[in-house]
Amino acid sequence: MDVFDAIFGRRSIRDYENDEIPESVIYKAIDAARHAPSAGNFQPWEFIIVRDAEIKKKLYSAAFSQSQILSAPVVIVVCADVMRSAYYGIRGTNLYAIQDTAAAIQNMLLAFYAMGYGTCWVGAFSEQAVKDCLNLPSEVRPVAIITVGKPRGKADKRELRNIEEIVHFDLWGNKSSEFFKHS
Ligand SMILES: Cc1cc2nc3c(=O)[nH]c(=O)nc-3n(C[C@H](O)[C@H](O)[C@H](O)COP(=O)(O)O)c2cc1C
Repeated sequence: MDVFDAIFGRRSIRDYENDEIPESVIYKAIDAARHAPSAGNFQPWEFIIVRDAEIKKKLYSAAFSQSQILSAPVVIVVCADVMRSAYYGIRGTNLYAIQDTAAAIQNMLLAFYAMGYGTCWVGAFSEQAVKDCLNLPSEVRPVAIITVGKPRGKADKRELRNIEEIVHFDLWGNKSSEFFKHS
């Protein structure tokens, strides 16, 4: 599968078969993740693999009862160790560390898709509840809970904004206000 097949084919999947996921598959996806760009090459990401049913239940509660967390055979909590980016001050800890980790997550989603697995990026959760559940130190921020498994069923219909609407060539001066409409 080439990179465009993966980018255009990947969809969020929220229901999974029970099948276990081989560790080699998990390692390959995380290998893809760690090849993402990061500010200053500080690589602030950390990956916590959850297969234990009790921990999944706690993450499910922390994420406002989103059922894909219970359905998935593997859940990966992707964290940013923000002090790794402290060289860049507040911009490093508040922005770069999160951006770097998000780039790693996208690589990981594409890699799982290329290997025949479905994923869902879960961002709606209580950060404190996830930290408590995994005993994370204060400087390690959970950025996303990624659910992974063999897809059961198809993804929902998805609308994409038109490319003409989102691309802005030579945008400058007072032309800008007419471009950004929020609805
Ligand atoms: C930062 C972020 C947070 C998200 N949080 C959730 C979430 O909490 N629950 C969920 O079901 N999907 C979540 N998603 C997945 C989006 O709903 C999904 O990517 C979007 O609807 C587009 O669909 P697609 O992934 O199939 O292209 C999140 C995605 C991102 C990037």
